[in-house]
Amino acid sequence: MSRHEQTDVVTSLSPQNPSDVVARVPAASSEAVQQAAAVARQAFPEWSKTPALQRANSLETAADSVRRSSAELIDLMVREVGKPVLESEAEVARGIAILRYFAQQALDPSGDVLPAASPETLLYTRRSPRGIAGLITPWNFPVAIPLWKAAPALAFGNVVLLKPAPEATAIALRLAEIIGEALPPRALTVLPGGAISGRAVVEAVDLVSFTGSVPVGRAVSALAVDRGIPFQAEMGGLNASIVLPDADVEQSAAIIASAAMGYAGQKCTATSRTIVVGDATRFTDALVGAVEHMTIGDPAKDDTIVGPVITEDARDRVTGAASEARSLGGRILRGGKALDQSGWFVAPTLVDGLPPEARLLHEEVFGPICAVISAESIEEAVEVANGVPYGLVTSIFTLDLNHALRFANEVDTGLIRVNAPTSGVDFYAPFGGEKASSMGPREQGKAARDFYTSLHTVTIAAGA
Ligand code: UN1
Repeated sequence: MSRHEQTDVVTSLSPQNPSDVVARVPAASSEAVQQAAAVARQAFPEWSKTPALQRANSLETAADSVRRSSAELIDLMVREVGKPVLESEAEVARGIAILRYFAQQALDPSGDVLPAASPETLLYTRRSPRGIAGLITPWNFPVAIPLWKAAPALAFGNVVLLKPAPEATAIALRLAEIIGEALPPRALTVLPGGAISGRAVVEAVDLVSFTGSVPVGRAVSALAVDRGIPFQAEMGGLNASIVLPDADVEQSAAIIASAAMGYAGQKCTATSRTIVVGDATRFTDALVGAVEHMTIGDPAKDDTIVGPVITEDARDRVTGAASEARSLGGRILRGGKALDQSGWFVAPTLVDGLPPEARLLHEEVFGPICAVISAESIEEAVEVANGVPYGLVTSIFTLDLNHALRFANEVDTGLIRVNAPTSGVDFYAPFGGEKASSMGPREQGKAARDFYTSLHTVTIAAGA
């Protein structure tokens, strides 16, 4: 279920220094996954019956452990997935907050009392954990995404099998050790590996939560449907920001530049299309200027905004998309080339003048490349924004309330932003997209409870 054929060893290399082997561990075979599932199944009854307050305390303790190990996790994140240190720090802090938030959610009411047919009857709902949650997570948010899935799973009494992306193997293993100290043995098990391990996880668990690419997400979902287990899949995006003529040019350009290029554009929430209504010249100049000001290079340095992309293939995808854009008559406003240094660095790239059918306007590249598109009216801009197979986030920059309201009603994405970047999510709000971006129920926030628990309706009538 991945581009990579699985071998029996998982290796992750530092993208800024590919000779640095960050992890080399055995991949979990199908048998190993089945064994881990059998052990997790034994751990489930005890954890699921642990009082909610105790589960909440365990997650609080896990949050404290992550806080104490922050520096180590930040260094590992920078090294293993090339995330600039400022963003790595923010992500680890987010991870801690996620653990604390779901610790508290464990104490929320676990059902409702409803009016019954007779006053002697008690009609209520009660939630129960579903069992073993299989989590399949990407490399780009190697702390936040595993935690925003594992924390609610555990808070509501499930046990977890986590299959991280091969590129983020070391950090997943270390994170699990750190939070595992606060949990009963085998409540959380990491199963490193590629497609074979991932498939085996989906085959062994009681529900599956996936974040990654569209083809793999669909394969995971199909297998889950086949097995009759609940699933959710968060996949790609091709997010647009619309800039109206009344927007503050410098401010919107700065926000869009960082949403497009921060962490080298490797977020499903990154801005990959900027649609400018009216004369685009001033805005385009400001955007080019904002991107030029970004420091590119060693992700361990405090002022780095754009580090490397994850692999050589990823780098070639960006340069390939730029050459294709050029050959279609597009103008490379900036970037378009790999940097002449070791590591998978590519210059942040801005393109305009593309014909509407250009691939860059319809397919996700997952790198630091963004197209600027002109539109005559807000209606046309919304039509262009909506005219892609994805539907994760759209943003608009305007001070006109009428435009903002209309936009919010007419864009077909799961997340809608006004004067805010497409990237960055609030873990206490529901997260997910439309169309090819997502399948299944939303994750994060209060939405997580619906996915990680099942709801029983209980009727108790008085005996005669
Ligand atoms: C963010 O923008 O902070 O994989 C999070 C991704 C998204 C998460 C984005 N699921 O990029």
